[in-house]
Amino acid sequence: MEEEKLRQEILDRVKELYKVRKQKEKFIPGETKVNYAGRVFDEKEMVAVVDTALDFWLTLGSKGKQFCEDFAAYLGVRHCLVTNSGSSSNLAAISALCSKSIKNPMKPGDEVITTAMTFPTTLNPIIQNRLIPVFVDIEEDTYNIDASKIEEAITEKTRAIVFAHTLGNPAEMDKIMAIATRHNLYVVEDTCDALDSKYDGKLCGTFGDFSTYSFYAAHHMTMGEGGTVCTNSTELYRAALSIRDWGRACFCQTGEANPKGACGHRFDFKFEGLPEGYDHKYVYNNIGYNLKPLDIQCAMGIEQLKKLPKFTERRKHNFKVLYDCFKNYEDKFILPRSLPKADPSWFAIPITVREDAGFSKKDFVTFLEDRKIETRMLFAGNILKQPGYKDIEYRISGSIKNTDQVLERTFFLGVYPGMTDAKLEYIQNVIHEFFA
Ligand SMILES: Cc1ncc(COP(=O)(O)O)c(C=O)c1O
Repeated sequence: MEEEKLRQEILDRVKELYKVRKQKEKFIPGETKVNYAGRVFDEKEMVAVVDTALDFWLTLGSKGKQFCEDFAAYLGVRHCLVTNSGSSSNLAAISALCSKSIKNPMKPGDEVITTAMTFPTTLNPIIQNRLIPVFVDIEEDTYNIDASKIEEAITEKTRAIVFAHTLGNPAEMDKIMAIATRHNLYVVEDTCDALDSKYDGKLCGTFGDFSTYSFYAAHHMTMGEGGTVCTNSTELYRAALSIRDWGRACFCQTGEANPKGACGHRFDFKFEGLPEGYDHKYVYNNIGYNLKPLDIQCAMGIEQLKKLPKFTERRKHNFKVLYDCFKNYEDKFILPRSLPKADPSWFAIPITVREDAGFSKKDFVTFLEDRKIETRMLFAGNILKQPGYKDIEYRISGSIKNTDQVLERTFFLGVYPGMTDAKLEYIQNVIHEFFA
């Protein structure tokens, strides 16, 4: 009783603290920084995090379980595995597809079709698993893998297509899935920037064998750091779980209390080379990692997921406001395009400065940054030009001129739900000022 009373007092004070901080927030155009993204939360997240911290369970437990159930239900998929980042999710997904514990694993030297216009950790697990990335170009205005170029890149070594829905813009999923089916290829949708985006009425991340999500603070919803790997396949889920949890064969959840294990046969198995009945929790059938988040992160995720519809609505609104502003200068900029069947929940608005604009990307971006408006590059641009990637083994299929164009002339601005009307108005004024 005493404990409950103390806990309630703490949580009430947390709510007060949130209110005090919120009241202090003020936007002064030209003085306050306009972030491209950021966490959007209220007292509910703060209370959920503190409440879970007070339990002091720390490692994955009831909040992790609930978050995975909520997230799988929202997506309408059978399995959701929570991780400590979107990068870890990509690593778990690609490594699971190379796991000897699945029926048809990829093996070193197999080819994976992807794009060189990429976030590094969409590509890295391909390299880390000794697969060969085969780069096809992106479209210059959707910034997504050009589906019409995929088939010509396929050889007898091709095993998978791995790509991101760039900045929330859905890739051409009907074409990609038809190619994958025709050639028996795995599909991994990096949905880290496309939570709640839809293609043909279906959520991005529900088409391929695996989808991955990031809940870093800049993303559509956040846990601070965090991610998920989702799939409808129990075989793939178990392989990804093993990769996340040190490579162990057992598929008990962290902290599973049943002494006989989730399967009821913890001490009943016989594995070649191991003693009869060796504890299944200590049988390793994969070379794994530890990619688990904390329960506290999941407590935050539970609250954030409830807010997703409102976040999406605001992202769409903010995108439209900035799009309409840039539309005045269409002779200077290539504006982003989404496909007729796409319903994007934009992560940001990507803009490419035209070659003949009369100014450079650097000119425009520094004008904005000098006026306290944050800009970002479209990730690595062409990752093959990045210092860390000089010696990787790869193949390019056709020209990747649009990928190079991103490196030279593309940037993005934020559209996150924390972008208020006042901030949007300020950004528009600064853009007009550049051309005045
Ligand atoms: C497309 C894409 N994939 C993967 C990631 C990695 O996510 P995280 O930062 O959670 O590792 C990001 C990060 O922003 C991303 O944009």
